[in-house]
Amino acid sequence: MNTGENTMLSLKHISKTYRNGSEITHALNDVSFDIEANQLTVILGPSGSGKSTALNILGGMDRPTTGTVSYNNYDINTESDAQLTQYRKDIVGFVFQFYNLISNLTVFENVAISAQLKDKKYQDVSEYYLKKVDLLKRKNNFPDQLSGGEMQRVSIARALAKQPKILLCDEPTGALDTETSQKVFKILKDSTSKDTAVVIVTHNPLVAKIADCVIKIKDGQVEKITNNINPLEVEEVDWG
Ligand SMILES: Nc1ncnc2c1ncn2[C@@H]1O[C@H](COP(=O)(O)OP(=O)(O)O)[C@@H](O)[C@H]1O
Ligand SMILES: [Mg+2]
Repeated sequence: MNTGENTMLSLKHISKTYRNGSEITHALNDVSFDIEANQLTVILGPSGSGKSTALNILGGMDRPTTGTVSYNNYDINTESDAQLTQYRKDIVGFVFQFYNLISNLTVFENVAISAQLKDKKYQDVSEYYLKKVDLLKRKNNFPDQLSGGEMQRVSIARALAKQPKILLCDEPTGALDTETSQKVFKILKDSTSKDTAVVIVTHNPLVAKIADCVIKIKDGQVEKITNNINPLEVEEVDWG
């Protein structure tokens, strides 16, 4: 339940307006919600509803036009660009739909450059997370020698290797088939801990079943927030 006592990140009255010449888009319009530690949160909504905009604001990759974002009661939008960079580096892990791996670095090296941001024992840390996503045996391969699902698991290992407080995932299975997607969702659900809150953005309503908290977004506004008392395990969902 969202009792407020474990609130890690809080969006309050966030609006985001994009201007391209004379064209104005209201991507978010007075959006408020909390992300709790130790929870898997799913942000659910159709294409164009403002999900990525919300995620980028949570991750300090974009600033809202109005409203506040606080991390552990600390307003991140009043920070300088340098402090916001620090927030992205120390607090946030990001997983993208198309993996964004560096193609001329090996699997191990892709994870290690992230692990190095946090830990002197980055080699051990990298191997630990590659093992977690069951890809240690592929550590010397290059990204284009892997399948899409494998690349996404490497990108999750990379995000986890810097031990983020918040793991933000934008349509992480958007380019994967159903069976491979389940494996990715299972890793993300299992990565949720008291140290790491996980947020998944998706347009697939089935994903809501595994979440502790579901934030439904429509036309740049929060339509509904649901706390699941008994979220399903990935294996229990009928993925169709
Ligand atoms: N940088 C941008 N410039 C102009 N419009 C944008 C920009 N980013 C997003 N938008 C617009 O904001 C709305 C919400 O986009 P987005 O957050 O990407 O939605 P979703 O991730 O739910 O598909 C869309 O109408 C989109 O075209
Ligand atoms: Mg999007």
